Amino acid sequence: MKAIVQTALGGPENLRLVDWPDPVPGHGQVLVRLRAASLNYRDTLILKGGYGSRQLKENFVPLSDGAGEVVALGPGAARFKIGDRVTVAFFQHWLSGAPNEEVLDSDTGRNANGVLCELCTFDEAGLVRTPDYLTDVEAASLPCAALTAWSALITEGHISPADTVLVQGTGGVSLFALQFAKMTGAGVVATSSSDAKLERVRAMGADHLINYVTEPEWGKAALAWTQGGGVDHVVEVGGAGTMKQSIRAVRPGGMITLIGVLAGARSDFLLPLVGSRNVRVQGIAVGTRESLEAMLRAMARHAMKPVVDSVFPMADARAAYDHLAAGRHFGKVCLSI
Ligand SMILES: NC(=O)c1ccc[n+]([C@@H]2O[C@H](COP(=O)([O-])OP(=O)(O)OC[C@H]3O[C@@H](n4cnc5c(N)ncnc54)[C@H](OP(=O)(O)O)[C@@H]3O)[C@@H](O)[C@H]2O)c1
Repeated sequence: MKAIVQTALGGPENLRLVDWPDPVPGHGQVLVRLRAASLNYRDTLILKGGYGSRQLKENFVPLSDGAGEVVALGPGAARFKIGDRVTVAFFQHWLSGAPNEEVLDSDTGRNANGVLCELCTFDEAGLVRTPDYLTDVEAASLPCAALTAWSALITEGHISPADTVLVQGTGGVSLFALQFAKMTGAGVVATSSSDAKLERVRAMGADHLINYVTEPEWGKAALAWTQGGGVDHVVEVGGAGTMKQSIRAVRPGGMITLIGVLAGARSDFLLPLVGSRNVRVQGIAVGTRESLEAMLRAMARHAMKPVVDSVFPMADARAAYDHLAAGRHFGKVCLSI
């Protein structure tokens, strides 16, 4: 089979297409013929040795998010049958309940090999059934970004149709957050660096648009749009560089779900502005398999389709990484395998 492997720490220039022996499923495992994968921002950091990956593993196969079909069963595997279409869960061992260090270390494409290969074995518990209405590329866009947005707004945020949600930028997590907010009937304030992208989020149902480059005080602008009341929920993907504006935008008693660090990891925001205003700051680590299955049921009921920006052939993985890093994408950058 063919696989993409990383041969040195650095950038996408160190990715190589290689021939590898076909893996054989062990006890309780299934062999999946992967058809598609998707890129997340974290994958660009992992190539450099970031995101807790530090050292390069020999013949490291990148990417966490994939979908395909079951082609062989190991001894004792009974959850799927040959021919079933499946999607890879981000945390292979976090099935439900509260997280612990072990389950948070069970993501693929970081310490363990990932999905940018034709054939891969998985513990059967680490897979979910792909809904019929989604293509493999669409399914592969979901495990990390969509589940993170779902966990933020639904599992942790418990948003209601009366709420207003603020989403930052037009990357994978943020567009899924926009879609889940609209699915529940909530209002959405969306920011972007690009007026053209803002027009596209308007078409997706965003109620108020702010260009965060031409309006650096976008938190104030969001507050003004809510007549000074503040938004109920901020999906925080910027991190250090955006937190101050997020705190400005959120209402007293509102929630900021801390997800990403696109604009920096070390922050000096004023803690009293959180504490004295009863703001809840909730970290999000993607989510459980149980949540992934609930999200897929909700998506199927609402016929919600992911926003796929582009699909690169596996052999052009370098170009896919470069495209994501350039930040011109809108939604998910995917690969066909
Ligand atoms: N905690 C978790 O479980 C979890 C899960 C998934 C992702 N993440 C993190 O969440 C972040 C987003 O991930 P992703 O995969 O969605 O990234 P992505 O698809 O690469 O999104 C990039 C987009 O974010 C927007 N952006 C960049 N800097 C911004 C800023 N200063 N303010 C507002 N928007 C900004 C830009 O949108 P415009 O072009 O429209 O300006 C850019 O195109 C990353 O830090 C990632 O590591 C965390």
